[in-house]
Amino acid sequence: TILTLDFGSQYTHLVTRRLRDLNVYSEMLPCTTKLKDLSWKPKGIILSGGPYSVYEDNAPHCDPAFLKLGIPILGICYGLQELAWTIAKENVTAGTAREYGLAEVVAQRHNSHVDRLFEGLGDTMQVFMSHGDKLSQLPSGFCTIATTRNSPFAGIAHETEPIFAIQWHPEVEHTPRGKDLLRNFVGICGAKQNWTMSNFIEQEISRIRGLVGPTDHVIGAVSGGVDSTVAAKLMQEAIADRFHAVLVDNGVMRLNECQQVKQTLAQHLGINLKIVDGAERFLNGLAGVTEPEQKRKFIGGCFIDLFEEEAVKIEKAQENAPSPGKVKWFLQGTLYPDVIESLSFKGPSATIKSHHNVGGLPQRMIDGQGLKLIEPLRELFKDEVREMGRQLGIHEDLVMRHPFPGPGLAIRILGEVTAERVDIARRADDIYISMIREAGIYNDMSQAYAGLDSSRSVGVMGDKREYGYIVILRAVRTSDFMTAEAYEFDWALLKRITSRIVNEIQGVSRVVYDSTSKPPGTIELE
Ligand code: XMP
Repeated sequence: TILTLDFGSQYTHLVTRRLRDLNVYSEMLPCTTKLKDLSWKPKGIILSGGPYSVYEDNAPHCDPAFLKLGIPILGICYGLQELAWTIAKENVTAGTAREYGLAEVVAQRHNSHVDRLFEGLGDTMQVFMSHGDKLSQLPSGFCTIATTRNSPFAGIAHETEPIFAIQWHPEVEHTPRGKDLLRNFVGICGAKQNWTMSNFIEQEISRIRGLVGPTDHVIGAVSGGVDSTVAAKLMQEAIADRFHAVLVDNGVMRLNECQQVKQTLAQHLGINLKIVDGAERFLNGLAGVTEPEQKRKFIGGCFIDLFEEEAVKIEKAQENAPSPGKVKWFLQGTLYPDVIESLSFKGPSATIKSHHNVGGLPQRMIDGQGLKLIEPLRELFKDEVREMGRQLGIHEDLVMRHPFPGPGLAIRILGEVTAERVDIARRADDIYISMIREAGIYNDMSQAYAGLDSSRSVGVMGDKREYGYIVILRAVRTSDFMTAEAYEFDWALLKRITSRIVNEIQGVSRVVYDSTSKPPGTIELE
């Protein structure tokens, strides 16, 4: 196992992800972790990037004991500054020229062990940089292994010990040979490349069993999406009928969705899903709310209220059962991108949106009162969850389903959510998605939906003026949902979809296609 100490970079999880791609298990722990609290011995340590400057008063520093273990260390970005700072403070200064974006790195060879990090990588590499500080001098005992136009010490290594540090991010896609560099580091560590998804499933199942205890029950939020379905299947494997799958109908689900999900889960996975009808309560609470964060917070809060009420009902219903237990846990299929965009280590990086399955939780749950959260997929990216789903025997159609957010159509309907507007968005979405499926392009895109603008526009229909709603069509391609490109639609198909929506849904006067990538847009409209 390789230990990754997290200093709060947006990319730290990508480090552990890349290592998993190399079949190496990596555990990510906060940079404040003390060596004495670790019950296992890492084969190597990675110090991640982070948003701080090492010389600031509140900058985080790792336990220096880690650096004295004699095992291989790789510092990335802030990790490089941290190593240099720990060795001698005067090594680091604020950079005069920030380096952000792509840069060309020139490798410096020494005919010694330090060359191993760049083995097979050529003399120059394209890399992604994102830093403001730089090394002003080499720490003693180190040599330069890479330079850029701006940094004479873009990569450094200890002359005798296996300590390496680089200023750029090898974990992001914009550093094309980054994975090869990490593979070289894995080789230097002598770490075993035996991590597999099926090992991970077994490990998670036993972790869940240990965490939940032998008599506790778990209530699970299941929406029919791949994340919550995979989480539910995992939970069912772990604790069988002490797991209770519940779908809350929040009034902003898609057309006929609740019943379809119930049927699919029963048929294919033997999961008995209970549908709780909360539509009226949600729509009443959303009346007059137009601010996106307020919508999310309300939906998140109301959602948890309903689950807590349901948990009480489940406990009551089994009072006379042979081994009645308490419903102590609340299962969610939260993935890593949901976590990173909502919170981060000590929170210096900006919150983009409070995703309801993370940031919209009521304070009592964050404080550990009431139901306790269990999120077995929190470390994983979407494609990994899909792989896990396949290994758990989940049907390919379900595994490849486009994600649907917890706050449902509410964050695709700009402005106020009313029953009438939900109905229009729902029907437009149904036409759009069914035509995408018929055209055989559903799996070419990562996510597609129809939403509704907050304003109306004038059209002409049957010689009459029509002041109607504007439907917004969106479709994106992405591998990790953290960045995305708009899908390049076939124009003729888009026109056929537009025509059906305008003709079949009264009150719609116009259809527009959203061609924004992420960033600067996000995938959802709010
Ligand atoms: P954005 O809009 O942030 O979306 O680019 C990225 C991915 O996250 C999904 N998403 C959510 N999922 N609760 C969820 O369960 C939420 O509040 C939420 N907001 C966005 C979105 O559908 C996309 O797949």
